[in-house]
Amino acid sequence: MISRLEETAQEVFDPEIHLACEPPTKKFTLEDLNLQPSPTSTKIAATLPFPILSLEGVRAYRRALFSQEVLHHCGGSPAPGTLTLRNAASFSSFISDFWSHPKTTQLLSEAADVPLKIVMSTEIGHTNIQTKGGSVSEMVSQLNVEPQTTKVPLTDEDRAYDPLKGSSIIPWHYDSYPYVCVLMLSDTEGMLGGETYIKTGDGVSLKVEGPKLGSGVVLQGGEVEHLAARSMGVSERITTITSFCADLPRVYDSSYITNLRWYSDRPTLYKQWTEYRLEKMKREIEHLQEQIALSPTLSDLSQVQKFAQDQLSYLKRTARQLIPIEDCESIAEKYGPVRNAFNLWEKAQTVMGFEQRVAIVTPHNWQQGNDLWTDLIETQLAIQAGRTIESQRGRFKWTKERQYCMGDELLRQGLPEIFLSWLDATGMYRPLTL
Ligand SMILES: [Fe+2]
Repeated sequence: MISRLEETAQEVFDPEIHLACEPPTKKFTLEDLNLQPSPTSTKIAATLPFPILSLEGVRAYRRALFSQEVLHHCGGSPAPGTLTLRNAASFSSFISDFWSHPKTTQLLSEAADVPLKIVMSTEIGHTNIQTKGGSVSEMVSQLNVEPQTTKVPLTDEDRAYDPLKGSSIIPWHYDSYPYVCVLMLSDTEGMLGGETYIKTGDGVSLKVEGPKLGSGVVLQGGEVEHLAARSMGVSERITTITSFCADLPRVYDSSYITNLRWYSDRPTLYKQWTEYRLEKMKREIEHLQEQIALSPTLSDLSQVQKFAQDQLSYLKRTARQLIPIEDCESIAEKYGPVRNAFNLWEKAQTVMGFEQRVAIVTPHNWQQGNDLWTDLIETQLAIQAGRTIESQRGRFKWTKERQYCMGDELLRQGLPEIFLSWLDATGMYRPLTL
């Protein structure tokens, strides 16, 4: 099957043929959802689905995705029935050209009401494929350029499914990067579910319908908490996703690579992450230089102080996300996947003598001299000052009676790998995982 797909794989992206380009009929602002804006957020929270690719565009995109080159280099499977393709833009000029074309950028930027910029090339066209089969090769054998229309009969359980009560395909979360465009490459006729739910400021969940074939949604997923409902009734579901940040001076982004670090090719991810963060800082420096050059003297010092503070915290986040590769490997070997870190932390807080356990680990016996200890004190001081704290899982005000500790700090910074090592040092890891 792959060789048949290969024959026509080298297609050139042509916006006249491949784009559909119609703006969204509705956008939801943060204000509409009663969500407070943050220093890193912009106005639009989400759009309704809108046409992006024509049918020819969908076929060409699928042809590019299912080329042997992409499948060979980009395929992985986090679970049976799910095939993921990452970094496809490095192996397909069609995918790369489509996402980076000025017309595509314009369409998506207008949908978000801010100029958007792709964060890094590894985040172009992250593709999730739900299909039949347990192994990668079994799933690959199901792929076909033509979107599948075979229906799967719905069971009573399917019909009664409620993602807010049962399990959702992706539970409540914030994305790694500020904006995401989720584009549907499958025929959704007869599909049940597949919507995105957004948590509003009142705690109510807003249901945003899922996109149809060739359509997509833009979501400020790094700033709004959301979940993806399971989809049923269809034999395949293929979505392809690209992540963006706002290309605006003085709007810093809220990105983390926590959710990608454990399964990505770390040397590539780290290189692109560092380049993207440095590029942003460079543009901020240039912007301030231009502002300062406008007058003969510098009278507004607050502008420079604010700039320095923003750059410092941006640079610190950039560096902290780069956990040394050998540490990632040894931690993964010792503790396994890091995905359950939050559950472990919930459980740990119910352990008898929890606070004494936490107090055992000090700067003298764990990570001596590491800047994380200074970070902890800084956050504790910010909490004492009553400030809202930024974290990898959204902003929060500390309301717990116990003291904010290193476990909280490591998860706040999106460092579950180091958290597991710290939890082990408290003596709580082993009993909790028995
Ligand atoms: Fe998401």
